[in-house]
Amino acid sequence: MEGLKGRDFLGLADLTPSEVKQLLDLAAQMKAQKVNPRCEKVLGLVFYKASTRTRVSFSVAMYQLGGQVIDLNPSVSQVSRGEPLPDTARVLDRYLDVLAVRTFAQADVETFARYCKIPVINALTDLEHPCQALADLMTVQECFGDFSGLTLSYLGDGNNVAHSLLLGCAMVGMNVRVATPDGYEPNPEIVNRAIALSGGSTEVTVTSDPIAAAKGAHVLYTDVWASMGQEQEAGSRIPVFQPYQLRDELLKYADSDAIVLHCLPAHRGEEISDEVIEGSQSRVWDQAENRMHAQKALLASVLGAAI
Ligand code: CP
Ligand code: NVA
Repeated sequence: MEGLKGRDFLGLADLTPSEVKQLLDLAAQMKAQKVNPRCEKVLGLVFYKASTRTRVSFSVAMYQLGGQVIDLNPSVSQVSRGEPLPDTARVLDRYLDVLAVRTFAQADVETFARYCKIPVINALTDLEHPCQALADLMTVQECFGDFSGLTLSYLGDGNNVAHSLLLGCAMVGMNVRVATPDGYEPNPEIVNRAIALSGGSTEVTVTSDPIAAAKGAHVLYTDVWASMGQEQEAGSRIPVFQPYQLRDELLKYADSDAIVLHCLPAHRGEEISDEVIEGSQSRVWDQAENRMHAQKALLASVLGAAI
């Protein structure tokens, strides 16, 4: 994927639909060990929020490419003592080959990208989780072979994960529905962007009706009701979000071959029932594994590794 060399990945729409598909194909080839590019470079991880999957999957992906990882926990760097981001970014740029940033404001990953010549990857912001969406699309492709005619229904909070899924589904030609309580809808700019990306050829729906969203869906997806940074609202959100819980009763409305996805970590008994996440339609562990393959393909591509 020569075209991605040196590029930032701050949001899913930084890629063209054809680049998303090529990246998914490359990830599948890497997972099947049909290609094994080498890239002896150094990845920096600047994570202002907790992470298990993203931190470990990026690290292992980089090691498997032959590279190294430096985990730059902001609490033990000068960042936590107030060093301006543009200064930190310009210095890290001189040491590292690629940087993955997990933070709150999308503007902060944009600042890193503006002041770094090396590629900067969004490892989750409040606005988007684009690396997650790549792994999600890879999982759907593995399960169904193709995206055409499929519908992914996301139930819950109109958050970062919902945003990247809206964009991702629209880009690969899959219908997407997002069902949220009133007042928790996805960002309208993202929804409009998804509609534009769909070119009118696939459905992009935002609704408050979880049953309408689940009907006939091939993929049912959920995420936590209170994201990192919203912990103080977690208790008060539970009754508001209860009708959107991914449980057997809702699963019955979906296609009989439907799969269940969750980006994890999950709160069993809140956004998803224990029966559903542990049930025969759940693909959450394959989905989590695919984070590593999708990000390895992304790293190899932005670093310009010979495939
Ligand atoms: N899904 C996801 O990004 O998980 P982590 O927060 O553990 O990285
Ligand atoms: N929406 C969640 C995703 C965690 C992977 C959060 O931002 O906390």
